[in-house]
Amino acid sequence: MKHTPETVVLLDFGCSVSQKLARGIRDNSIYTMVMPRTVPVNRLQEESPAGIIICKDAGVADHAEDLKRFQATDIPVMILEVKDNNIDEAVSAAVEFCTGTCKCQGLWKLENFIDDAVKDIREQVGDGTVVLGLSGGVDSSVVAALIHKAIGDRLTCVFVNHGLLRKGEQEQVQEIFERNFKMNLVCVDAADRFLDKLAGVDDPEKKRKIIGKEFIEVFADAAKKVNAPFLGQGTIYPDILESISFDGNPAGVIKSHHNVGGLPEDLKFQLVEPVERLFKDEVRKVGKLLGLPAEMLDRHPFPGPSLGVRHVGAIKRETLAMLREADAIVTEELYASGWYHKTWQTFAIFVPVKTVGIRNGCRSYDYVIAIRSINSVDAVTAQVVRLPWELLEKMADRIVHEVDGVNRVVYDITAKPPGTIEWE
Ligand code: XMP
Repeated sequence: MKHTPETVVLLDFGCSVSQKLARGIRDNSIYTMVMPRTVPVNRLQEESPAGIIICKDAGVADHAEDLKRFQATDIPVMILEVKDNNIDEAVSAAVEFCTGTCKCQGLWKLENFIDDAVKDIREQVGDGTVVLGLSGGVDSSVVAALIHKAIGDRLTCVFVNHGLLRKGEQEQVQEIFERNFKMNLVCVDAADRFLDKLAGVDDPEKKRKIIGKEFIEVFADAAKKVNAPFLGQGTIYPDILESISFDGNPAGVIKSHHNVGGLPEDLKFQLVEPVERLFKDEVRKVGKLLGLPAEMLDRHPFPGPSLGVRHVGAIKRETLAMLREADAIVTEELYASGWYHKTWQTFAIFVPVKTVGIRNGCRSYDYVIAIRSINSVDAVTAQVVRLPWELLEKMADRIVHEVDGVNRVVYDITAKPPGTIEWE
């Protein structure tokens, strides 16, 4: 984004909470960027910052050489040491520096962000067209709404139905974007193609690879037909930050940007990434301001391979349908009980094990559904949620009565680590 008022740069000199600090300062209407201590001074000056905040955890080495480089500029510099992860205290000291020494007026408002982003998109795209892969997740949905606001029907969204969607997912996306927003939406029904390729494959990594590869092929085919020079992407600020090395060591990169990775060479898109400088909750707020419904913006994180990684073992249409029904019941009961927003992720898993039970007075020999509910702050570690017993019983009761082929429900009480959040 080019139109950014009043930027402050947070230089990470070994700070475990730099992203949280930046979020906290932004909450005070001061636009904050995070950069590594190794950033060249001229790159930093491109942002015309009103101030530089050197942040580090208490006890981390000083890196005097780097410090000197920034102190030699005419930009005010503050050294902020974060003690005991005390973010509140650090944020208020930083804000005092910004409004006092740097004379920031607090011009960063998400309402203005929308106007600026619309201007930027129009400038970048001109009278061209954009294609965007819409998953129904927060980031791509907000980007769709933003680009649509800027260029209307010169945006075409592509939604791939890979057959692993949750119940009603495609209809929900169509309802919101095609019918309410009047957006050009191409839904590609590739369910058979995916499920045929997945038939008999029980290795989790192979399943993921097949889903990823097919997805790229199906999306690339659809995007080719749209014939747009621009590709909209839901890249957000943590994606960018995680692709930068903060300790001067390339191995420190958590993941590589860009998500376009994998698209065939002959598709040479120019990227439109209007939320690339926003944190996740800022993206949500922008979505809300643009009129996207809360049930879309406040959804639990959902893995790219969707129900594919929640169906243990080889996927059959019949058992996938059981998982889809069970998942819908879990979600419905979670909302009804008010627990949806109290957990980070709660979902059903299909377990390909048959056990003996009783149905209508007769012996049954049917499958198992597991329920998992966790809380987390960053998905790196997770704690099991102690959902109320009555709620779990209600879910289990409905699943065994309403889902044909399932006669037993178990609750996963494994933290991460050692368990991962998803089962595959
Ligand atoms: P795990 O299972 O690794 O999951 O503990 C950590 C978080 O990442 C999500 N997840 C994924 N998200 N594509 C995604 O976009 C994926 O392939 C994927 N696999 C796991 C998972 O839901 C959890 O929030």
